[in-house]
Amino acid sequence: MATNRTLTMIKPDAVRAGNIGNILAMINNAGFRIVAMKYTKLSADKAGKFYEVHKERPFYGELVSFMSSGPIVAAILEKDNAVADFRTLIGATNPAEAADGTIRKLYATSIGENAVHGSDSDDNAKIEGDFFFSELERF
Ligand code: CMP
Repeated sequence: MATNRTLTMIKPDAVRAGNIGNILAMINNAGFRIVAMKYTKLSADKAGKFYEVHKERPFYGELVSFMSSGPIVAAILEKDNAVADFRTLIGATNPAEAADGTIRKLYATSIGENAVHGSDSDDNAKIEGDFFFSELERF
């Protein structure tokens, strides 16, 4: 059954470019409710654990290094059909393939530095939400 929650990160490239506010406004305007949110920085070890599923991929080292290169905003978002609707809002992983008006089309610069993360399934939304937030940090 759908949980209607998803986990996002505003990645270090978008934070560095000053786009936290713009991206949060798009999330808000698309009807997502913020359940939990924090401004934090992943260590390389933590970034490696978050993306462990990609461990064998050739870009894993680059991904871990980038995701631990600066602060991020992590948030749990709630909405009907949250996982799929958020992936529509952010657009394709590669910004060159992202639809007009999507967050990645507007703010991502490459497939590696692609501004935002969104969970790819309800199961991963739960795992990723639990990675960042305790029950006491959810409202
Ligand atoms: P994200 O949605 O956070 O999930 C996995 C991430 O791996 C993805 O966004 C990209 O940032 C990154 N990624 C996927 N494919 C590549 C690639 N070919 N080269 C570099 N990074 C990639």
